[in-house]
Amino acid sequence: MRKKIVAGNWKMNTTVPEGIELLKAVVAKSNEVPAEVGLIVAAPHTHLCCLSEVLEGSKVELSAQNCADHVSGAYTGEISVNMLKSVGCQWTILGHSERRQYYGETDEKLVEKTKLALEAGLGVILCVGENLDEREAGKHFDVCSAQIKNVLYNFSAEDMKKIIVAYEPVWAIGTGKTATAEQAEEIHAHIRKVLADKFGAQVAEDTTILYGGSCKPSNARELFAQKDIDGGLIGGAALKADDFIAIAQSY
Ligand code: PGA
Repeated sequence: MRKKIVAGNWKMNTTVPEGIELLKAVVAKSNEVPAEVGLIVAAPHTHLCCLSEVLEGSKVELSAQNCADHVSGAYTGEISVNMLKSVGCQWTILGHSERRQYYGETDEKLVEKTKLALEAGLGVILCVGENLDEREAGKHFDVCSAQIKNVLYNFSAEDMKKIIVAYEPVWAIGTGKTATAEQAEEIHAHIRKVLADKFGAQVAEDTTILYGGSCKPSNARELFAQKDIDGGLIGGAALKADDFIAIAQSY
């Protein structure tokens, strides 16, 4: 049985004190979330050390939003997987469209980063998704398949146990435009098929696939009701504890 997960991606928001307050509010309400729904918070690197103390003993797990593509050494400004691990991180997001778009993140780099993260014992939330031009050109299935194949086909069925896929149509991120439940479901089902082609039906069935892109309390229920949507990667709405928790209660 695959896990249901709601993950908050705080992006470059909140100061450390604000982040601590936000996480305290999430932790305080986390027992209102059904036991079978996992909660993850992906915070800025500067926050992780403090936040890991705040969530101790709660069901909330901690994620980074990115990691370096090298183990250690002369890479000024980068944060390694072992550094993340050492502050209590259990996950890292990789390949978010904002990193692909603004910071030149390529599928090749994502293979390296995924390898290092898994070796360090971190789980990976790998983001895929098409932009507006690609959707309008009818290429959304191909774009998502290519991103999945280029990265995940380098890994094993065993590795897939530590990997979550997040489908985030770029045109829906932070825009208020959500993919309809049908649009999201058809891509999720497609992604599961692409995973099944390489890893077999069981691994594909067991892989958690999240939807991201203007997911909020008002639309989460319909999205999460779809057969292949196993939860959400939440940006804007994760910055309000009540909204984040309400989304996690939407199953
Ligand atoms: P959004 O962001 O919920 O603000 O659209 C989602 C994401 O980018 O992970």
